[in-house]
Amino acid sequence: KTIGVLCGGLSAEREVSLRTGGEVHRALQEAGYRSVLIDAGRDLAEQLRAEGVEIAFVALHGRFGEDGRVQGLLEMLGIPYTGSGVLASALAIDKVATKKILLYHELPTPGFVVFRRGDDREALLERCRHFPLVVKPAREGSTIGISIVHDRDELAAGLDTALELDDQVLVEDYIAGMEVTVSVLDDEALPIIQIVPKGGFYDYKAKYTAGQTRYILPALLPPLVYRRLQQVSVEACRILGCRGAARVDFMVQEREFYILEINTVPGMTPTSLLPKAALRAGMSFTELVVRMLLDADL
Ligand code: DAL
Ligand code: MG
Repeated sequence: KTIGVLCGGLSAEREVSLRTGGEVHRALQEAGYRSVLIDAGRDLAEQLRAEGVEIAFVALHGRFGEDGRVQGLLEMLGIPYTGSGVLASALAIDKVATKKILLYHELPTPGFVVFRRGDDREALLERCRHFPLVVKPAREGSTIGISIVHDRDELAAGLDTALELDDQVLVEDYIAGMEVTVSVLDDEALPIIQIVPKGGFYDYKAKYTAGQTRYILPALLPPLVYRRLQQVSVEACRILGCRGAARVDFMVQEREFYILEINTVPGMTPTSLLPKAALRAGMSFTELVVRMLLDADL
């Protein structure tokens, strides 16, 4: 069968996705599969037909790929694909929608307010009195467009930055504490990674430049907290309806923890987290990729 590795695409995370796609493509070839790299543009349907793609490996991050749109197209075309389906993808890309669902299920996530383009800015600035806060475009990844703000002026600037990328902005309580991530593979949590960025903020540079972040694996958490985070991660993925691989990002403060978001197409670049967690669980990168491929479905 011909596997199409869908990567690149139209989102702000295009460069990251090209790296993920390149790694996946290499691993598939190493495992003996016929793999083609597809830069998923507006003509994706024609590209898939031209290359004779029979299974799609979704390596697209962000909008137009991680958000259900490409999944919908693949369903229309009858091509099985890796990872989450249309609804789970669309929910998980949207941090606001995700938080509302988590809260409905009584899973902890930082307090927040939502700002939509055109809303009254003064009202928001009045409402946000406790700093620091984190300002995020509702539907981006890799920390693109995110600011940590300490006063009203920074909040106003953070809003502008986020509004360049999305009509909907999440203004979230800043949780000082330990950042950890839990990869989930088919209802099973992998070892937890603790993230210690050298600059203090796990931003784009800290994520994708070798040596900018220290990864502690397994995370230094009390055993009960560790197990609880793994359980909650599996639960969160189940609630959203995720399939295949996903990664749940947390902030931990003592024994309290907060879910920041769920990624349905976790990065698989050389510095990314899912491959590290899988390796710790005894799975090589190639084994991980093959396992994800074998989960592909419609
Ligand atoms: N959004 C990036 C790719 C990640 O979560 O790994
Ligand atoms: Mg993300």
